[in-house]
Amino acid sequence: MKLVIGGSTGFVGEELILQAIQNPAFTSIIALSRRETPLPPGSTKVKSVVCDDFEDYSDNVNNELKDADACIWTIAITPSKSTTFPFEETSKISRDYATTAIRTISSLRSDQSRPFRFVYMSGHFVARSLDELAAPVRAHGLVDYTLMRGEAEVQILEFAENSGGAVQASVARPGMIDSPNRERREIPGVPHVELRDVAASLLAQVVDGFEKDTLVNDDLTRIGQKALAK
Ligand SMILES: NC(=O)c1ccc[n+]([C@@H]2O[C@H](COP(=O)([O-])OP(=O)(O)OC[C@H]3O[C@@H](n4cnc5c(N)ncnc54)[C@H](OP(=O)(O)O)[C@@H]3O)[C@@H](O)[C@H]2O)c1
Repeated sequence: MKLVIGGSTGFVGEELILQAIQNPAFTSIIALSRRETPLPPGSTKVKSVVCDDFEDYSDNVNNELKDADACIWTIAITPSKSTTFPFEETSKISRDYATTAIRTISSLRSDQSRPFRFVYMSGHFVARSLDELAAPVRAHGLVDYTLMRGEAEVQILEFAENSGGAVQASVARPGMIDSPNRERREIPGVPHVELRDVAASLLAQVVDGFEKDTLVNDDLTRIGQKALAK
């Protein structure tokens, strides 16, 4: 299958690329980012595609994205970086780029008989309404950010629901993602998950089909570890 990884230069994106290259289920991988994705030498099934405008893809980018079977979308401004950008900019990058992606990539398929699968990477404390807001979100001044990411989740799941089966979507809500190469950070109330498990779980879900429309931290660990044990 042909897989698009949006945000292939990022922390999660890089791991997705490495695991997808090893996985025979993926015959073609598009590493989509705002700059060239450094690729391991000898990786013939992966192509780096640079996108200059994530709200309106060029013909060249559209051409590279056509007939994709799945996309894992990791582009976002993370909560820790969100304070350094105007909120409008953060919303555009974290919400609007993702909704443009699901809309555009799903429209570029000539064979609509198989579903197009899209994963939106979100986060542990993301909420779809004020009632769902966790106390630490208020304490850290992240109410607007958290609801904006929840809005993205809703828009993506609704797009799939309204597609008549042509598009399937799921949202991944990891806690803190740990990697041997990164210092472990603790935030009270936020669970941890290993980077390799997150990547393995998302890749397994786009191949096998989504277990549910919202994958929480424990789901990502369980599905990822099972996939890696195979
Ligand atoms: N890391 C965690 O512990 C964690 C925990 C929970 C949820 N998540 C979620 O998981 C997803 C991926 O996180 P991550 O840690 O991999 O993030 P990351 O390392 O910051 O990478 C995100 C990707 O977004 C791209 N990006 C950032 N600003 C952009 C812009 N203005 N235009 C186009 N691309 C832009 C980055 O490109 P460049 O490389 O060029 O900057 C990179 O490819 C995010 O949705 C995040 O909220 C992460």
